[in-house]
Amino acid sequence: MNPLAQHLNDQLVDDSPEILSMLSRLGQSMFYPKGILSQSAEAKSTKYNATIGMATNDKGKMYADTLFDVYNHLSPDEIFPYAPPQGIETLRDLWQQKMLKENPSLKASSISRPIVTNALTHGLSLVADLFVNDEDTILLPTHNWGNYKLIFNTRHNANIETYAIFDQDGHYTTNSLVSTLDNFKQYKAIIILNYPNNPTGYTPTQEEVHTIVSAIERLAEKGTKVITVVDDAYYGLFYEDVYTQSIFTAITQLDSKNILPIRLDGATKEFFAWGLRVGFLTFGLNNQKAK
Ligand SMILES: Cc1ncc(COP(=O)(O)O)c(C=O)c1O
Repeated sequence: MNPLAQHLNDQLVDDSPEILSMLSRLGQSMFYPKGILSQSAEAKSTKYNATIGMATNDKGKMYADTLFDVYNHLSPDEIFPYAPPQGIETLRDLWQQKMLKENPSLKASSISRPIVTNALTHGLSLVADLFVNDEDTILLPTHNWGNYKLIFNTRHNANIETYAIFDQDGHYTTNSLVSTLDNFKQYKAIIILNYPNNPTGYTPTQEEVHTIVSAIERLAEKGTKVITVVDDAYYGLFYEDVYTQSIFTAITQLDSKNILPIRLDGATKEFFAWGLRVGFLTFGLNNQKAK
């Protein structure tokens, strides 16, 4: 058991042993990743707090005026009707159009209609529910977002294997991922690709994307089932000379039935819409077309 979960349980032994005994095995294993909590606490006393996950300026939280404006123009009939579980159909279509516009190499016939999720965290949980069995391997860069461990390892008992994305000189490298994929021997690989990367902000160049995608293709050609989960939480926050389409787009161009591209993106960071908690789950389809 994770020491953080153990610590929480130890507190319950003293405070509420009855509740501890009511918790399921999973409930007793849950914890809040320490990095997120302790960093936020530490950051409170600093001048610049880079841990809050929100964009701010000296006036407070940043948001899009156009989004704020929406609230003045919606009628109650547009706000209150029950939304279907997969999300409001118009929203799904609009998001799909947005994806296609921003990703000129992405074909409409290569993707599903996006399913609306309760932001990216929920999308990641759904992906884990759908695709992860005990002991499956999740490939993650050593620099990764703390909640992946909770979602994939604690909840679903997957093994987390990490690879470096920076060399000894601090330069981005694809070498470690490529050699991990070239030497991968199991039936199924679940690869989480998160660019711009949390916590480093790095986004690969076109050439680096090509190298990553070719390694995925080689692995699939050997018969491994490859589930590529693209976490695009920070999509659009690009700098310098990088590949500005989602790496999901590049993966949907691979013609292999052994590859399943999945994209998770949403309004949280892209539209500075921190509290709306609206995300999308989209599957790549091109590999499934009838031969
Ligand atoms: C890499 C990454 N993925 C997912 C999320 C969660 O996004 P959301 O708040 O939309 O659930 C975050 C939030 O910080 C993140 O950094």
